[in-house]
Amino acid sequence: MTTTLAPQGAPAASTDIKIRISGLSKVFQTKTGPFVALDDINLDIPAGCFFMIVGPSGCGKTTLLRILAGLEQHSSGTVDVASPAANRPGNSMVFQGDSLFPWMTVWENAAYGLNMRGLPKAEVKNVVGHYLARTGLSRFHDYYPHQLSGGMRQRVSIARAFANDPDILLMDEPFSALDEQNKVLLQEELLRIWEETRKTVMFITHSVDEAVTLGDRIMIMTAHPGRTKVMVDVPFERPRSILELRARPEYGELVYSIWGHLRDEVQRARTQDEERAS
Ligand SMILES: Nc1ncnc2c1ncn2[C@@H]1O[C@H](COP(=O)(O)OP(=O)(O)O)[C@@H](O)[C@H]1O
Ligand SMILES: [Mg+2]
Repeated sequence: MTTTLAPQGAPAASTDIKIRISGLSKVFQTKTGPFVALDDINLDIPAGCFFMIVGPSGCGKTTLLRILAGLEQHSSGTVDVASPAANRPGNSMVFQGDSLFPWMTVWENAAYGLNMRGLPKAEVKNVVGHYLARTGLSRFHDYYPHQLSGGMRQRVSIARAFANDPDILLMDEPFSALDEQNKVLLQEELLRIWEETRKTVMFITHSVDEAVTLGDRIMIMTAHPGRTKVMVDVPFERPRSILELRARPEYGELVYSIWGHLRDEVQRARTQDEERAS
C-alpha cells in the first residue's frame, strides 16, 4: 500500500520529503451508498516537520491518519513514505482515548514496542528509563493505567511512542480529553521531547490554539468531503515557550486568521449533521 521514496536506510537531509500524498481519496461503502470521506488530498511533508491537521468533526482527519498508519486502505491516489532505517518502525500512533494495555504496568506499556522488536534488555531499560524520566513518570513505573489520571495515561502513551523510536509519529487528538492546565503542561513536555529528536510528526487537533502552538505547518480541512482548504506556515521560532508565544500579538493574529478559514467549515459540518439527523 505504501511505497518507498528513498532507498532503505538512506540518510535524510532536513529538506527531504518524508511523506508524499497525491490525489488521495477514500470512499467508504455504507448501507446508504458510497460515502466520500477524503477527496483529492495532496501533501508533501518534509522530514522533521511538525505537521498539524485541523478541521471540523467528521471531515476525515482520523481516516487520513489511519491510512498513513496502514490501518485503512485508500481508494485512489498514492501515499509514499520514505522508508526508515533498518530495524526501526515506520510509525507509532498516539490515539485520542486510552490505548494503554490495562494489564500492563507503566513500564511494560512503554517498553512494549521495543520488547516486541526483541531489542536487548539493557537497551530497552535505557530507552524506557529515559522517556519515563522525560515525561515525569519514573516514580510511577510499576503503576497500572487505572491507578493514573487521564493526563498521566497520555504521558505514558507519549513515552511509549517516542521509546519506540519510529520514523514518524502519528497523533490523533492526544490531548483533547484533558483539562486546559494539563494540556499546556503536556504540550510543553511534548515539544521538549520532540526538540531532542525532531521526528516527523503528523498531529490532528480540533484546537486552533494547539495547532499554532505546536506546528510548523497547518493544513486546514473542509467539512465533508475532506479536502485541503488552506495550508498555513507557522513562523514562530524553536524552541518555543508556549506561554510566551501565546502572549504575543502575532500569535493572536495567526489564530484569528485560521479561525476565519475554519469558521465556514465548522458551520457547514453542523448543517450536514442536522440534515443527517432529520
Ligand atoms: N468505517 C467507516 N465506514 C463508514 N464511514 C466511516 C467509517 N469510518 C469513518 N467514517 C465516516 O467518515 C467521515 C470521517 O470520519 P473521521 O475520519 O473519523 O473524521 P474526523 O476524525 O475528522 O472527525 C465521518 O463522516 C465518518 O462517519
Ligand atoms: Mg477523529
